Amino acid sequence: MQNTDQNISGEKIALHFNVSRNAVWKVIKQLQAEGYLITSKHRLGYRYVGTTNLSSEQIHLNLNSAIEVKVYDIIDSTNKLAKQLAIENNTKPIGIVANQQTNGYGRYGRNYYSPKDTGIYMSLLIPMQEQIIDSGLLTTGVAVIISQIFSELYDIDLKIKWVNDLIYKDKKIAGIMTEGITDFETGSLSYIIIGVGINLSTKNFPTKIQAKAGDLNLNDVDRNLLVANLFDGIYGLLKANVTDEMLGYYKEHSIVLNQEIQLNQHGKLVTGIVTDISNNGELVVDTIDGIKKFSSGEITKVKIINGDYHG
Ligand code: BTN
Repeated sequence: MQNTDQNISGEKIALHFNVSRNAVWKVIKQLQAEGYLITSKHRLGYRYVGTTNLSSEQIHLNLNSAIEVKVYDIIDSTNKLAKQLAIENNTKPIGIVANQQTNGYGRYGRNYYSPKDTGIYMSLLIPMQEQIIDSGLLTTGVAVIISQIFSELYDIDLKIKWVNDLIYKDKKIAGIMTEGITDFETGSLSYIIIGVGINLSTKNFPTKIQAKAGDLNLNDVDRNLLVANLFDGIYGLLKANVTDEMLGYYKEHSIVLNQEIQLNQHGKLVTGIVTDISNNGELVVDTIDGIKKFSSGEITKVKIINGDYHG
């Protein structure tokens, strides 16, 4: 990994590790079978090209922020682990990413479908002694950051459905969930956990979500580079602020702005036309009872004016 620009002979590797050339060859074959891309050229030797696997070394190579990264092949939920780490009083930011989750969850306690190899399931745990932005705007900012990263890396235009869903070709391809941990004695927020799930090439969704969930059809992307960019982007946002420019981006990419919607607010249904997203990230809706602002709730229907209903 430290010599991706050159070939290294089997002999040199064997000498370095004090093993036989045959042992080197065997390990290279094993690594290749595990998803590490290593070229092998007669007389020149081996060269490490990259990996389709998630790897903390590879994430660190691309990462600019001081975040500890933990990688799991399989885990119940990265957000759940982040909570455990918070209980253990970790004082540093920790990024957790998994290749598969057996019990991933989303907002309203829903399951988050997290099959192996096809997505990104990650959480960032931030101790609150770190400078932090207005938590109301956090999800808004994270949605913008993710959309911008996909535009920069893959030239993909992701839309945003208030407050935290990322949409591609009318389907939800990613979800964001922010959880806070409060100090019981002081009543103040001691940790913040930002969980992100992205369907890169996920197919065969459970029947219940088939109509709404989709993927990006991104099969062979470098997930390590992507994860490093996401951790850097989200962490950078926490250390800075959501700017007017970001709010502008959010509105430009919003699928609900100027559309008729139905909002489920703790079981109460509200309908109206979305006239704005406020500077605090609230949904501003023109309802029959006048203009109302909402900081939470779930948009259950979007009627594209002069168009069809979207879930
Ligand atoms: C939502 O759409 O309601 C939010 C989905 C958040 C899913 C992610 S996947 C990684 C992290 N671990 C979890 O268990 N959930 C979040």
